[in-house]
Amino acid sequence: MPVPPAPESAAEPASGFGPDFEPCERAARPVRLPRPGLGASRRRRAEILRVDHAGEYAAVHIYRAQRAVFEGRAGKAAIAADMGEMQGQEAVHLARFEALLNAERVRPTVMTPIWRLAALGLGAGTALLGEKAAHACTEAVESVIEEHYADQISELADRDPDLAAELTRFRDEELAHHDHAVGQGSRDAPGYGLLSAVIKAGCRAAIKISERV
Ligand SMILES: [Fe+2]
Ligand SMILES: [Fe+2]
Repeated sequence: MPVPPAPESAAEPASGFGPDFEPCERAARPVRLPRPGLGASRRRRAEILRVDHAGEYAAVHIYRAQRAVFEGRAGKAAIAADMGEMQGQEAVHLARFEALLNAERVRPTVMTPIWRLAALGLGAGTALLGEKAAHACTEAVESVIEEHYADQISELADRDPDLAAELTRFRDEELAHHDHAVGQGSRDAPGYGLLSAVIKAGCRAAIKISERV
Protein backbone atom coordinates (compact mmCIF):
# COMPACT_ATOMS: atom_id res chain seq x y z
CA MET A 1 0.00 0.00 0.00
CA PRO A 2 1.51 3.37 -1.00
CA VAL A 3 2.59 5.59 1.84
CA PRO A 4 0.79 8.96 1.65
CA PRO A 5 3.16 11.95 1.44
CA ALA A 6 3.62 14.03 4.57
CA PRO A 7 1.38 17.12 4.55
CA GLU A 8 3.26 20.22 3.41
CA SER A 9 2.70 21.99 6.70
CA ALA A 10 4.66 19.28 8.47
CA ALA A 11 7.88 20.74 7.06
CA GLU A 12 7.24 24.11 8.71
CA PRO A 13 7.86 24.82 12.37
CA ALA A 14 4.59 24.86 14.25
CA SER A 15 4.24 28.44 15.44
CA GLY A 16 0.75 27.99 16.83
CA PHE A 17 -0.10 31.52 15.67
CA GLY A 18 -2.40 30.64 12.75
CA PRO A 19 -2.23 31.10 8.96
CA ASP A 20 -1.43 34.84 9.02
CA PHE A 21 1.75 34.34 11.01
CA GLU A 22 4.79 35.64 9.12
CA PRO A 23 8.32 34.89 10.32
CA CYS A 24 10.76 37.84 10.36
CA GLU A 25 13.61 37.95 7.87
CA ARG A 26 16.89 37.00 9.50
CA ALA A 27 20.48 37.55 8.48
CA ALA A 28 22.67 34.45 8.45
CA ARG A 29 24.55 34.06 11.73
CA PRO A 30 28.25 33.25 11.75
CA VAL A 31 28.97 29.68 12.82
CA ARG A 32 30.80 29.67 16.15
CA LEU A 33 33.29 26.89 16.53
CA PRO A 34 33.39 24.82 19.72
CA ARG A 35 35.52 26.52 22.34
CA PRO A 36 38.73 24.57 22.77
CA GLY A 37 39.40 23.22 26.23
CA LEU A 38 35.75 22.87 27.15
CA GLY A 39 35.51 19.72 25.04
CA ALA A 40 33.05 17.06 26.04
CA SER A 41 33.45 17.67 29.73
CA ARG A 42 30.58 16.88 32.02
CA ARG A 43 31.13 20.26 33.61
CA ARG A 44 30.33 22.09 30.42
CA ARG A 45 27.23 19.96 29.82
CA ALA A 46 26.09 20.72 33.37
CA GLU A 47 26.60 24.45 32.70
CA ILE A 48 24.51 24.22 29.55
CA LEU A 49 21.68 22.35 31.23
CA ARG A 50 21.72 24.68 34.24
CA VAL A 51 21.59 27.90 32.23
CA ASP A 52 18.96 26.60 29.81
CA HIS A 53 16.81 25.43 32.71
CA ALA A 54 17.11 28.90 34.25
CA GLY A 55 16.14 30.59 30.98
CA GLU A 56 13.07 28.44 30.49
CA TYR A 57 12.10 28.85 34.13
CA ALA A 58 12.26 32.62 33.71
CA ALA A 59 10.34 32.49 30.41
CA VAL A 60 7.48 30.53 32.00
CA HIS A 61 7.23 33.11 34.77
CA ILE A 62 7.38 36.14 32.45
CA TYR A 63 4.51 34.82 30.34
CA ARG A 64 2.61 33.69 33.40
CA ALA A 65 2.73 37.20 34.89
CA GLN A 66 1.79 38.82 31.58
CA ARG A 67 -1.16 36.48 31.13
CA ALA A 68 -2.30 37.18 34.68
CA VAL A 69 -2.29 40.94 34.03
CA PHE A 70 -4.26 40.68 30.78
CA GLU A 71 -6.66 37.90 31.72
CA GLY A 72 -10.19 39.05 32.49
CA ARG A 73 -9.60 42.63 31.24
CA ALA A 74 -11.93 43.98 28.56
CA GLY A 75 -10.44 43.65 25.07
CA LYS A 76 -7.40 41.73 26.29
CA ALA A 77 -8.61 38.18 25.68
CA ALA A 78 -6.48 37.73 22.55
CA ILE A 79 -3.20 38.79 24.13
CA ALA A 80 -3.97 36.82 27.29
CA ALA A 81 -4.45 33.75 25.09
CA ASP A 82 -1.17 34.48 23.22
CA MET A 83 0.74 34.74 26.47
CA GLY A 84 -0.92 31.59 27.77
CA GLU A 85 0.05 29.70 24.64
CA MET A 86 3.68 30.79 24.88
CA GLN A 87 3.71 29.97 28.60
CA GLY A 88 2.57 26.44 27.69
CA GLN A 89 5.38 26.01 25.16
CA GLU A 90 7.95 27.32 27.65
CA ALA A 91 6.59 24.89 30.24
CA VAL A 92 7.35 22.01 27.86
CA HIS A 93 10.92 23.31 27.42
CA LEU A 94 11.27 23.72 31.18
CA ALA A 95 9.99 20.20 31.89
CA ARG A 96 12.60 18.79 29.53
CA PHE A 97 15.46 20.59 31.31
CA GLU A 98 14.08 19.60 34.71
CA ALA A 99 14.11 15.96 33.60
CA LEU A 100 17.69 16.29 32.33
CA LEU A 101 18.88 18.02 35.53
CA ASN A 102 17.33 15.23 37.62
CA ALA A 103 18.64 12.42 35.42
CA GLU A 104 22.18 13.83 35.38
CA ARG A 105 22.18 15.05 38.97
CA VAL A 106 22.92 18.62 37.96
CA ARG A 107 21.74 21.23 40.44
CA PRO A 108 19.74 24.21 39.21
CA THR A 109 21.24 27.65 39.60
CA VAL A 110 21.19 29.04 43.14
CA MET A 111 19.68 32.15 41.55
CA THR A 112 16.36 30.39 40.83
CA PRO A 113 14.34 32.26 43.51
CA ILE A 114 15.79 35.59 42.32
CA TRP A 115 15.04 34.80 38.67
CA ARG A 116 11.49 33.90 39.66
CA LEU A 117 10.93 37.33 41.23
CA ALA A 118 12.73 39.15 38.40
CA ALA A 119 10.73 37.30 35.73
CA LEU A 120 7.38 37.89 37.44
CA GLY A 121 8.29 41.58 37.87
CA LEU A 122 9.39 41.93 34.26
CA GLY A 123 6.27 40.19 32.97
CA ALA A 124 3.85 42.13 35.15
CA GLY A 125 5.65 45.44 34.63
CA THR A 126 5.71 45.26 30.85
CA ALA A 127 2.10 44.02 30.68
CA LEU A 128 0.99 46.96 32.85
CA LEU A 129 2.74 49.29 30.37
CA GLY A 130 0.47 47.87 27.65
CA GLU A 131 0.23 45.25 24.94
CA LYS A 132 3.01 46.69 22.80
CA ALA A 133 5.41 46.82 25.74
CA ALA A 134 4.54 43.21 26.57
CA HIS A 135 5.38 42.27 23.00
CA ALA A 136 8.61 44.32 23.17
CA CYS A 137 9.54 42.26 26.23
CA THR A 138 8.88 39.05 24.31
CA GLU A 139 10.92 40.27 21.34
CA ALA A 140 13.90 41.23 23.54
CA VAL A 141 13.89 38.11 25.69
CA GLU A 142 13.39 35.72 22.80
CA SER A 143 16.08 37.36 20.68
CA VAL A 144 18.63 36.81 23.45
CA ILE A 145 17.43 33.24 24.09
CA GLU A 146 17.49 32.27 20.42
CA GLU A 147 21.04 33.61 20.01
CA HIS A 148 22.05 31.75 23.14
CA TYR A 149 20.58 28.51 21.77
CA ALA A 150 22.19 29.12 18.37
CA ASP A 151 25.61 29.38 20.05
CA GLN A 152 25.03 26.18 22.01
CA ILE A 153 23.74 24.35 18.92
CA SER A 154 26.91 25.15 16.98
CA GLU A 155 29.03 24.20 20.00
CA LEU A 156 27.23 20.86 20.44
CA ALA A 157 26.63 19.92 16.79
CA ASP A 158 29.47 17.40 16.67
CA ARG A 159 29.91 16.22 20.22
CA ASP A 160 26.27 16.00 21.34
CA PRO A 161 24.01 15.96 18.26
CA ASP A 162 20.96 14.69 20.22
CA LEU A 163 21.00 17.64 22.59
CA ALA A 164 21.75 19.98 19.66
CA ALA A 165 18.65 18.65 17.87
CA GLU A 166 16.48 19.27 20.93
CA LEU A 167 17.85 22.77 21.32
CA THR A 168 17.14 23.38 17.64
CA ARG A 169 13.46 22.53 18.14
CA PHE A 170 13.27 24.82 21.16
CA ARG A 171 15.06 27.60 19.29
CA ASP A 172 12.54 27.36 16.44
CA GLU A 173 9.75 27.97 18.95
CA GLU A 174 11.62 30.91 20.52
CA LEU A 175 12.01 32.39 17.02
CA ALA A 176 8.26 31.97 16.42
CA HIS A 177 7.57 33.79 19.71
CA HIS A 178 9.98 36.57 18.69
CA ASP A 179 8.48 36.94 15.23
CA HIS A 180 4.93 36.91 16.55
CA ALA A 181 5.83 39.76 18.94
CA VAL A 182 7.29 41.80 16.09
CA GLY A 183 4.19 41.09 14.00
CA GLN A 184 2.03 42.36 16.86
CA GLY A 185 3.81 45.73 16.95
CA SER A 186 6.51 45.28 19.59
CA ARG A 187 8.62 47.97 17.93
CA ASP A 188 5.85 50.55 18.37
CA ALA A 189 6.01 50.23 22.15
CA PRO A 190 6.63 53.53 23.99
CA GLY A 191 10.33 53.77 24.86
CA TYR A 192 11.00 50.69 22.72
CA GLY A 193 14.75 51.30 22.27
CA LEU A 194 15.51 51.73 25.96
CA LEU A 195 13.09 49.02 27.08
CA SER A 196 14.56 46.54 24.64
CA ALA A 197 18.18 47.41 25.50
CA VAL A 198 17.59 47.11 29.26
CA ILE A 199 15.77 43.76 28.98
CA LYS A 200 18.42 42.31 26.64
CA ALA A 201 21.24 43.43 28.95
CA GLY A 202 19.44 41.88 31.91
CA CYS A 203 18.94 38.59 30.07
CA ARG A 204 22.59 38.43 29.00
CA ALA A 205 23.76 39.10 32.55
CA ALA A 206 21.39 36.42 33.89
CA ILE A 207 22.80 33.92 31.38
CA LYS A 208 26.37 34.57 32.49
CA ILE A 209 25.46 34.28 36.17
CA SER A 210 23.34 31.13 35.73
CA GLU A 211 26.13 29.29 33.92
CA ARG A 212 28.45 29.85 36.86
CA VAL A 213 26.33 29.59 39.98
FE1 LIG B 1 11.69 28.27 25.72
FE1 LIG C 1 9.99 31.40 23.95
